[in-house]
This record gives sequence, C-alpha cells and structure tokens, in this order.
Amino acid sequence: MDLQEEYRRRLLDVEEAVNMVKDRQTIVAAMAASEPPALLRGLSRRAREVEGARVCTCLLMRDYGFMDPSLQGHILNESWFFGPWERKYYGERMATHLPNNLHEAGEKKAEKDRIDFFWGTAAPMDENGFFSLSLGVTYEKIMVEKADFVVLEVNENLPRTMGDTQVHISEIDGIVENKEDPVELPPVEPTEADLAIGNHIAELVEDGSTIQLGIGGIPNAIARNLMDKKDLGIHTEMFTDGMVDLFEAGVITGRKKTLWPGKMVGTFALGTNRLYRFIDQNPGLEFQQGNVTNDPFVIGKNYKMVSINTALQVDLCGQVVSEWLGGRQFSGTGGQADTHRGAQRSPGGKGIIALRSTAKKGTISTIQPRLPAGAQVTLGRQEIDLVVTEHGVASLKGMSVRERVQRLIAIAHPDFRDELKSEAERLEIW
Ligand code: COA
Repeated sequence: MDLQEEYRRRLLDVEEAVNMVKDRQTIVAAMAASEPPALLRGLSRRAREVEGARVCTCLLMRDYGFMDPSLQGHILNESWFFGPWERKYYGERMATHLPNNLHEAGEKKAEKDRIDFFWGTAAPMDENGFFSLSLGVTYEKIMVEKADFVVLEVNENLPRTMGDTQVHISEIDGIVENKEDPVELPPVEPTEADLAIGNHIAELVEDGSTIQLGIGGIPNAIARNLMDKKDLGIHTEMFTDGMVDLFEAGVITGRKKTLWPGKMVGTFALGTNRLYRFIDQNPGLEFQQGNVTNDPFVIGKNYKMVSINTALQVDLCGQVVSEWLGGRQFSGTGGQADTHRGAQRSPGGKGIIALRSTAKKGTISTIQPRLPAGAQVTLGRQEIDLVVTEHGVASLKGMSVRERVQRLIAIAHPDFRDELKSEAERLEIW
C-alpha cells in the first residue's frame, strides 16, 4: 500500500466534506477539545441547504453557528453533555439533550441510529499509516467503526497520544487538513470554599489511592490539596492540568495501582497547552476508550479507587443533582455515575460528592430540604456515601434518613441550618 497515495486520495476541502451531508442525515462529532473546528464551522453554511439533519456533540467548546435559530428545521444539535453553547441554544430549541452514562453513550447511539458521518480530529499519519485520535477516545473509536463515512481533521498541532488511540488510514474515508491550535480550557482559580473542600477531601484520600477527578472548579482545588500525598495513581475520565501538577510534584507514581500499574489512565484530555504538551508521546499515559475507562466494573478493579465529583444540589436525604439547574439541563451525567459506582466497587474505594454549601454569592443553600419539581437526579440517595462541603464531611454510608438529614444539615452553610431543620421537621424527615 502506498500510504502517501492513500492519503492524497482521501484529501477533501471543507466544502467538499460538508456538502456530502444530505437531508435527515446524522453526523457525530468528536467531543470537547477533540471537536473538528473547520468541519463544524462549514456545517453552519451547509445546514441552510438541508432539512432535518442532526449533529451529535458532547461538551461543545465553541459556537460554530450551526445552532443559530435561523437554522430551525434544517439542523438539530443532540448533545450528551451541555457546555455553554448547547445550554444557550437549548432555550432556542436548537439543541436537545441525550441522557447517558458516558461509558455507553456511543454504543447506544449507534444501536438506535444510523450514523452517516463521523467527524473527528487526529494528529498526522505516521510511517505505518496510523493516525492518533489525540485528545480523546470517549466514543470516537466506536464511531470510526460504525459511521458510514469517516472524516478526520488532521492537525499537526495536536498531540500524539498513547494507548488505544490509533486508527489506520484504511479505516478513514476523508481527510481535511487544519492547523488551528487546539481549544484550551483555562484552569479556574479556586475560591476559599474550594480550598477548604480540597482540605477535607485530602483527609479522605490515603497514600497509594488511585483517583478520578471530575469537571469544574472544585477538582482544581482538590489537586492542590493532594500535594503531600504519596504514590497516587490516576484512573479518570478526563486528564486535567491539576494532574500534571501532581505528576511533576512526584505525587503521582502509579506504583500502587492494580490496573495498568505505573500508567495514568483516562479517555480524554481538556485543559491548557501545558497539558497537551505533557500528554504528547508520553508513554506514562494510557488512553483507553470510554467504554473501558468508565465501565464501573473496570474502575472497581483498582485498589483504593477514589472518585471525586461535583454537584449543584443535594437534598436532605442525599439525592444528588449535578446536571440540572433552574428547570433546565445544565451539563450532563457524563461519567459521574460511572466513576462514582466504580469507586464504590473497589476494595477500599470511596465515591465522594463535593459541592460548595452556597451558590449565587451566598444567597442560596445548595443543600435543600427537597429538590424542586422536575429536578433530574444524577445519583440516587441510596448510592451516596460521602458528601463534602467547605463545612465538613457528611458520611452517609449505612445511615438512616434521620441520620442523613442531621449530617447533611451539619455541613450546610450555618446561615441556612435553622431553616433546613424546620423544613425537615415540617416534611417529617427529621
Ligand atoms: N442553585 C443555583 N445556582 C447554582 C447552584 C444552585 N444550587 N449551584 C451552582 N449554581 C450556579 C453557580 O453560582 C454558577 O453560576 P455563575 O456562573 O453565575 O457563577 C453556575 O451555577 C455553575 O456552578 P459552578 O459550581 O461554578 O459549576 P462548575 O463549573 O464547577 O461545574 C458541575 C459543576 C456540577 C456542573 C459539573 O461538575 C458537572 O457538570 N458535573 C456532572 C458531570 C460530572 O461530574 N462528570 C464527572 C466526570 S468528568
């Protein structure tokens, strides 16, 4: 096989690639920092010429214009995880949500719908004809296999990552070249409350644990508080900048890991260029597909696995809402249920839910007597063992409703504790 000839035969310009999309067809795009910017931008133009097309995304990082309300009826965005853009256009009825546990998102979609196109991104082809899917393989490899027509946006600025990220040119139908820098997610500066939460969590993480950190401001603060730990390992969904800090400080060695010892395991990376340089050709990282990294049965094979995820609201019985706010979809379940359940299966493991005790500048308690009508629950009360706020740790394992109520009130913001108590009495859960 003349690889260069095979490469040239597949080259398309953006217009050619997007013009292939026809009425009522389905495109799946790679997620977050792996999203293909040139193709998605091209889609906003092509969308005017088709009826009833769908594009599936996950944590879209930029507004490419294809959800503009003027495209109503031409195209609909289906998203596994809302970022700011899906959130915005949901209100305009240009986006809808696909509820999922991340480890089965791709397979379920491919089982239900014909996938006409998969549009992904990759680092350039190597001398053996392999591309690296670079910043993530959450569902992308499944789509390479299932889609009728696979287009990769090949970009020399993307890191070549190790593990199960390779696809051969024979599996690819089209190539679009692009040189844009990958999208970055700057770290959020932790607040005082975040650092206090990080401090409580540090007390729960023993040396030799394998950790998963979720998405949001609090996980960054947690990484800072783990600097004194020894021999931590990483088995996560998302690689973050905080993990680079921990590795460089010698905290992450992976020496005590029981699964992929010595390797940091994850399925996608989202952060700054520093993270993207760190993961480039780094054999210390093992990218595995989302149906592996996030399978609770796989996660549970790690010894002392600790998952740390963030929530928006918790009710006094322990129901956790992490993705729904003010009557609307805010983000998605993502890997929260996967990683939480996996950690609970692990010998010596812990599933931790962390949240600030208040929101909106201290005016709202995130611990509520009951959830608002229609709230979408991410984790049920029966699977919540540990809730952490800046005011402490509520250990709910094996606890009755009455004990849960008492312990959750004890970690609520002091300004709201009396109100929570009287509401608990009124609801007869005290
Ligand atoms: N009531 C009203 N508003 C609230 C609120 C509440 N209970 N809780 C948070 N908010 C507001 C905040 O004030 C903030 O508003 P602002 O932007 O105007 O300041 C906004 O909602 C976002 O809250 P914040 O705490 O900053 O969110 P975050 O970026 O830290 O993300 C989650 C937190 C829970 C949304 C995020 O972790 C998530 O989507 N989790 C689910 C998926 C998951 O955990 N996956 C894990 C595997 S990676």
